[in-house]
Amino acid sequence: MGKFVINGQKPLKGDVYISGGKNSTVAILPAAILVDGPCRIENVPSIRDVTILKEILEKLGAQITQDDNSTITIDSTYINQYSAPYDMVKCMRASYYLLGALLGRFKKAEVAFPGGCDFGFRPIDQHIKGFEAMGAKVEVEHGIIKLNAERLVGSQIYLDVVSVGATINLMLAAVKAEGTTTIENAAKEPHVVDVANFLNAMGANVKGAGTDVIKIKGVQALQGGAVHSIIPDQIEAGTFMIAAAATGGDVTVKNIIPKHMESLSAKLVEMNIGVIEGEDWIRVAGSNKINKANIKTLPYPGFPTDLHPPAAVLLCLADGTSTITEGVWDLRFQYVDELKRMGAQIKVEGRMAVIEGTGKLSGAPVKAMDLRAGAALVIAGLIAAGRTEVYETKYIDRGYENFEEKLRSLGADISREDV
Ligand code: EPU
Repeated sequence: MGKFVINGQKPLKGDVYISGGKNSTVAILPAAILVDGPCRIENVPSIRDVTILKEILEKLGAQITQDDNSTITIDSTYINQYSAPYDMVKCMRASYYLLGALLGRFKKAEVAFPGGCDFGFRPIDQHIKGFEAMGAKVEVEHGIIKLNAERLVGSQIYLDVVSVGATINLMLAAVKAEGTTTIENAAKEPHVVDVANFLNAMGANVKGAGTDVIKIKGVQALQGGAVHSIIPDQIEAGTFMIAAAATGGDVTVKNIIPKHMESLSAKLVEMNIGVIEGEDWIRVAGSNKINKANIKTLPYPGFPTDLHPPAAVLLCLADGTSTITEGVWDLRFQYVDELKRMGAQIKVEGRMAVIEGTGKLSGAPVKAMDLRAGAALVIAGLIAAGRTEVYETKYIDRGYENFEEKLRSLGADISREDV
């Protein structure tokens, strides 16, 4: 157990390098199960979710070598089991990708529902609907989802909700199925495209990723030897952009794809924050007068739900009343009560947070309830007067590589203490 101790009111200044994307990595590592042979994956972030996932793959029989800090080689030749019980997956929320990958490889998969979710139950009915359409029998027994297909056959699947997880999982199951699978109303997130590129690098035939119709023509086998570099983390980049704006700083966020940041960049400009874009960087400079704004979170290319809690902190500093309407997760508002302890004035009305700009926050002990709520509380600590302690750093460690080191290098007064 750990906490971050932050002495606030120090503007962030300088350059920060963004790591590889968490949500790409947690899908691409399981995707490596589909090939008999090695593949080399670069720009892998050192975060807790990745550590856990590597352990799971090794337990399944994969051989993983760490080539350098951010490069690993996974050889799935000797994966010999299709079962990932609860004690293997209980700390890994994205373990549902094992379903698609193991089904694609063995035509069978048994994966336990992951352990208690950080913001409520996450349905996977759309994943299941797709697996069934491809010929898998699905049973749930003793908390384990069991998939079994005599033959996996391409199918036309329309997703009732735009789901990143279902889109990726169905791509994983479909790459070696017989015939063509079409996913309609597919998610368009950058990491969906990243996973498709990785699959294609291994010899798959996936077309249309990044649009709402993806077509996957099944191939007999994938080939080892692929090399793939994970795309930069859109949400980590956004977190630092918001932190720069909130602290009245001047930060250049480097090693990113600015196109992925468009919805945030546009919103920051609307709020009177300085944003300058380069080829692979964005510079964000704070302002004395932050305009109020209304935000609605939506699937990509809309404003990302994962940046909702950090954006709420920034809006506490705006002139007037702002709103954030949550369009993806019902339970995204867990940060609100903790932020109120720091002086924020936020009311939740249904799926909307109504935020009165108070212009300031005061330091307090607070608790991270999930990954992005935790990042938001750290940003709140950076702007608050006095000392803030953010408990439950384990959530933040799930998804941010060297978070406090990166913030310290920008001038933040933040340290980690054991509790
Ligand atoms: N949904 C269903 N049925 C399904 C799947 C999803 O109703 O079968 C609903 C969900 O309840 C939710 C919406 O569809 O309301 C979107 O869920 P989605 O499947 O897109 O989310 P996910 O794949 O489980 C990923 C990210 C989340 C991010 C969401 C939305 C990973 C590992 N997780 O989750 O990231 O919030 O997409 O962009 O990729 C985070 O990084 O902090 C995080 C929570």
